[in-house]
Amino acid sequence: MATKWGICSAGKISNDFLVALETLPAQDHQVVAVAARDLKQARDFAQIRKIPKAYGSYEALANDPDIDVIYVGVLHTVHRDVVLMFLEHKKNVLCEKPLAMNSDEVRELTSAARKVLVILLYQDIPSCMWCPTSIIVNGKETKFPLPHSTKPMHFTNSTGLSYEAEHVRQCLLKGLKESPIMSLKDSELLSNIMDEVRGQLGVKFHQDKKLNI
Ligand SMILES: NC(=O)c1ccc[n+]([C@@H]2O[C@H](COP(=O)([O-])OP(=O)(O)OC[C@H]3O[C@@H](n4cnc5c(N)ncnc54)[C@H](OP(=O)(O)O)[C@@H]3O)[C@@H](O)[C@H]2O)c1
Repeated sequence: MATKWGICSAGKISNDFLVALETLPAQDHQVVAVAARDLKQARDFAQIRKIPKAYGSYEALANDPDIDVIYVGVLHTVHRDVVLMFLEHKKNVLCEKPLAMNSDEVRELTSAARKVLVILLYQDIPSCMWCPTSIIVNGKETKFPLPHSTKPMHFTNSTGLSYEAEHVRQCLLKGLKESPIMSLKDSELLSNIMDEVRGQLGVKFHQDKKLNI
């Protein structure tokens, strides 16, 4: 059975994620709906990409019972609010880097994720805005060849997003509550490291009020 995706936002990375999804077998991944803050934006985005349903609010997407998992393509400044809303509606979520603005926000998300059903949160150090094609760990290199697509994309190597999409599918098929290779604890640890880096550089966000950065 296909994994049914809902796409939250009609922005650039949402487009690239759809291109990546199209490189995977259609019987495994289906896009059911897209939501944008403005219904016309959602409809235009859906029409060009042949997505069956378009919503003019993220809440409407959260209320669609025909969706297995939501790809969160909104700006990271609003990840906290948007992801919490989906979790309240018991929706599975794939949310990319940076997961939130600081470790306080990330812990709000991970504790909400633990209270409700499956969620997959993903975060890496936001040093580059594209998918790596090779990772070396302890001297051992693993290659991630890029699927081919002729569709226009906004970011380099975006078809590499197909790896995370397929991983989400495998987690859902196994009924997992979180990813075994990108755990909620790992997301918390990364956000602590990012807070520390920002603290040392003297970079503050207004969301840091409660943190000693
Ligand atoms: N994996 C990667 O390599 C990668 C690469 C680039 C970006 N990203 C992630 O994707 C996020 C979005 O990047 P993007 O380049 O796609 O940006 P973008 O084209 O500007 O799109 C961002 C979307 O955020 C939504 N949004 C919700 N609340 C908003 C607000 N208050 N102000 C502005 N936008 C708001 C808008 O959705 P509506 O359509 O509903 O208006 C907009 O379309 C980044 O923050 C990052 O987390 C990941």
